[in-house]
Amino acid sequence: MQAEAFWDGMAQSYAKRPIQNMDQHDRTVERSAAYLTPEAEVLEVGCGTGTIAMRLAPHAGHVLATDISGALLDIARQRQAEQAVDTVSFARHGLFDLPEGQFDMVAAYNLLHLIEDFDGAVASLAARVKPGGVLVTKTGALAENWRGWPLRLVIGAMRMIGKAPYVGFLSSRDIDAAMARHGLEIVESETMGKGVVTRFLVARKV
Ligand SMILES: C[S@@+](CC[C@H](N)C(=O)[O-])C[C@H]1O[C@@H](n2cnc3c(N)ncnc32)[C@H](O)[C@@H]1O
Repeated sequence: MQAEAFWDGMAQSYAKRPIQNMDQHDRTVERSAAYLTPEAEVLEVGCGTGTIAMRLAPHAGHVLATDISGALLDIARQRQAEQAVDTVSFARHGLFDLPEGQFDMVAAYNLLHLIEDFDGAVASLAARVKPGGVLVTKTGALAENWRGWPLRLVIGAMRMIGKAPYVGFLSSRDIDAAMARHGLEIVESETMGKGVVTRFLVARKV
């Protein structure tokens, strides 16, 4: 199943799900916001229901939040109207079809491990970062998950019945190495979580 159809189908139930780890979520937002200025132009890719975009908005000039799923973007726009945040725009774009231009910050949270062409995805994000700007990512490092092989089997079975998207089993080393290949220098990193491991990175375009 294509990513767009999968996420459109999941949109309502995904939006109802509470945030899994609030401490990690808060830290991700705070650490990202530390790189913003009141004039900063931000591009978020794979924004889902727009939760992080709307939290980053008060720290930036403007956030262009994009996602491949029109259904998730509809929910994001509804929430934006409820919260009266006017410095975020939502637009439908896939990771390989991003808006023109370059941004002070490009951000992708909980996205890159869902993309089959991981290296191409990092290249696409890096191309949208202004020289001197930053790419901020938080990516599942599922190769480091303590459930390892059983998890691969469960996800494989779920994919066969359309209940899971593509999921890559990356390690922190894979994720870090991709930044250097695309002209980005890591300035901050953290491996978050124990059972379910995610890699938070801030990488500057040199
Ligand atoms: C796990 S959710 C994360 C949502 C949000 N970033 C967050 O952390 O709450 C993954 C998101 O990536 C989007 N997505 C999946 N494949 C994509 C692609 N090829 N291009 C852009 N967005 C994609 C999905 O529609 C979904 O909103």
